Amino acid sequence: MKNLKSKIKNICCIGAGYVGGPTMSVIADKCPDIMVTVVDINTEKINCWNEEDLKKLPIYEPNLEDVISRVRNRNLFFSNDIENSIKKADLIFISVNTPIKEKGIGSGKASNLKWVESSARQISSYAEGHTIVVEKSTLPVRTAETIKNILASSFKDNNKSFSVLSNPEFLSEGNALDDLLNPDRVLIGGEDYDSINALKEIYTRWVDSKKIICTNVWSSELSKLVANAFLAQRISSINTVSAICEASGAEVNEVAKAVGTDKRIGSKFLNPGPGFGGSCFKKDILNLVYLCNHFGLPEVAEYWEQVIKMNTWQQERIYKVVVSRLFGNVVNKKLAILGFSFKSNTNDTRESPAIELCKNLLNEGAFLAINDPKVKKNQIEKDLNLNESPDQDINFSEGGWYYEESVYNAIDKSDGVIILTEWNEYRNLDWDKISRITRKPAWIFDTRLIIDPIKVKEAGLNLWRLGDGNNR
Ligand code: NAD
Ligand code: UGA
Repeated sequence: MKNLKSKIKNICCIGAGYVGGPTMSVIADKCPDIMVTVVDINTEKINCWNEEDLKKLPIYEPNLEDVISRVRNRNLFFSNDIENSIKKADLIFISVNTPIKEKGIGSGKASNLKWVESSARQISSYAEGHTIVVEKSTLPVRTAETIKNILASSFKDNNKSFSVLSNPEFLSEGNALDDLLNPDRVLIGGEDYDSINALKEIYTRWVDSKKIICTNVWSSELSKLVANAFLAQRISSINTVSAICEASGAEVNEVAKAVGTDKRIGSKFLNPGPGFGGSCFKKDILNLVYLCNHFGLPEVAEYWEQVIKMNTWQQERIYKVVVSRLFGNVVNKKLAILGFSFKSNTNDTRESPAIELCKNLLNEGAFLAINDPKVKKNQIEKDLNLNESPDQDINFSEGGWYYEESVYNAIDKSDGVIILTEWNEYRNLDWDKISRITRKPAWIFDTRLIIDPIKVKEAGLNLWRLGDGNNR
């Protein structure tokens, strides 16, 4: 029988994704005395996490390979044996996906909690003794109650007991290891003092206890949604400013710098771009909107909904700019798409602005050569719902695309180059060479403001930069 007051010896994490994998790697690294097992219903994913060749891990995250090579099979294990991993655990993180519902009540707005519920049911069936259950997934306010109810159904029979905590994750992809090692804060929501302390004890191995904030469960759940809503709101705000700059002759980076030097505003998260992507911003705001409507606050819901509307507007306006600069026609034209992930340093493409832009350009009849340093061809096929064209020659296949590993081959004979992700690989391209290999008059579209406009123009290329008043 596990003892409530004892130090945590066995952790199980349900969900081996972008959060579960890196978070548990860091916990295992910092707590060599704790056995950490990450389980998943996706056996293929677990096999990838166990791959000897670290290049085959299911996610790309800078420095993750180093940590994995230190801790895997020492005190970090990836397993399909959900039942036994839960049985052994004193503490279980639920780190499963919580996407937006696609049908039924709350469709397109509320979270689909089926994976969270199935995790709670697995815990309820297999746990033994006392178990601390920690919500790591981002969840609508009061989900802990649902988890408690499910767990309570198995309480009396088998000498089982549970306490439920909320401990939302704030890491951002591409910077996950640094975010986990040096978090701005760790948030723990709960009522049970012993369980909160047990979880705190894990984090204080490497996080200053002053950074650990304890709240009630509902505040913790809501804080996570609000943090993401505020971050996304900043991006939509600066993206609206990019449009004003283009119309008025101002330069968005100059405005962002001037505004961001005010300490009350701050300089971070003021980079304009093709719209925010990633699996969370949109879904978490939609969730907040759903909650506001549920609690009878339609004006508040409308306020937050506008952040998403502006994001969609930004994505569409970039598509329209590309088509209009190419004389309103992209048929029989090759366009090089540089970057398909939603941001640099990740292979994640969920909600990437590249997806809608590419779909729109394909629909217009363009032929696309898509390059990304980390996203694989089959992922792009899934996202575009379209197989790569069999003909990758310059005999442009209308509305077709192919995956091109070499940046310069992607650009070769193209009429336009669209930079969508801020990968370092795209920052210092050879513009003279590009000028020689493109079809004139070629256009360069920089939606991330990462290239030197003077060099591009000196090479004789046409340039459109997001938020640049000189575009007019
Ligand atoms: P993900 O899709 O990468 O991983 C979730 C994993 O859970 C999947 O591999 C899935 O197969 C597995 N799973 C689902 N149900 C299961 C079950 N019953 N038993 C075992 N495994 C199960 O998702 P993610 O990006 O890691 O996000 C997880 C949660 O964390 C979400 O709620 C998300 O909002 C939140 N979050 C994500 C990030 C991020 O950067 N991705 C950051 C902070 C918070
Ligand atoms: C975001 C938050 O930053 C994390 O704190 C949070 O834990 C996570 O969501 C989550 O809950 O999933 P992430 O989506 O991984 O992290 O990456 P961000 O760096 O926030 O970028 C999100 C999107 O906004 C990207 O498309 C990025 O290109 C865009 N962005 C970001 C901008 O356009 N401008 C900026 O200044 C910053």
